[in-house]
Amino acid sequence: MAVNIVLETIKKRRSIRSYRQEQIQEAELQAILEAGQYAPSAVNQQLWHFTVIQNAALLAELNTSAKEAAARFEDEHVQKLGKNKRLNIFYGAPTVILVSGREGALLVGADCAAAVQNMLLAAEALGLGACWVNLTVFAFAGDKASYFKQRLQLPEGYQPLYSVVAGYKKAAAVAAPVRKGKVVSYVR
Ligand SMILES: Cc1cc2nc3c(=O)[nH]c(=O)nc-3n(C[C@H](O)[C@H](O)[C@H](O)COP(=O)(O)O)c2cc1C
Repeated sequence: MAVNIVLETIKKRRSIRSYRQEQIQEAELQAILEAGQYAPSAVNQQLWHFTVIQNAALLAELNTSAKEAAARFEDEHVQKLGKNKRLNIFYGAPTVILVSGREGALLVGADCAAAVQNMLLAAEALGLGACWVNLTVFAFAGDKASYFKQRLQLPEGYQPLYSVVAGYKKAAAVAAPVRKGKVVSYVR
């Protein structure tokens, strides 16, 4: 089979957790956002909303609040991350795209997840680093939830579900770990 750039990009994409401070170009941001909006959605509802956050002070606030809420969460792994003083959940990325879904919409979590994956692949295709960061939504679970919703001007009735952080990679990504086997069955 001939080399295919899409398949190559899928295999090359990694979660990047170290970024340069420099902001990404507007054209790169728009290409990533467009890729997100071209994801499939249940009954083509497209009931997602993308909030671009490029304000360092606000990102610092979100980081603090998300970690405070994560530290109180029942899951041990999440709790540990919340309590990790050295962790910045955005890894210093200058751009964070929060993906929200319309509350109560059919399979909207799946729609938003597909949009996230499209954006991660777009970032990789453009030579940028990106990471799917779920911890962000913890900021909307704590007592500052309505403050953040207002500050981010989230549309009424939309719930933050996931986020993508993006920026220029500080270091080259390491190779992808070997895939865990035995996950495919064939019935032919
Ligand atoms: C639903 C979901 C939530 C994730 N949340 C986080 C997160 O909060 N922080 C983080 O650093 N990585 C997060 N990741 C990235 C995973 O840790 C990463 O995809 C996994 O370790 C495999 O590494 P790779 O993306 O480099 O292949 C998340 C991934 C998914 C699919």
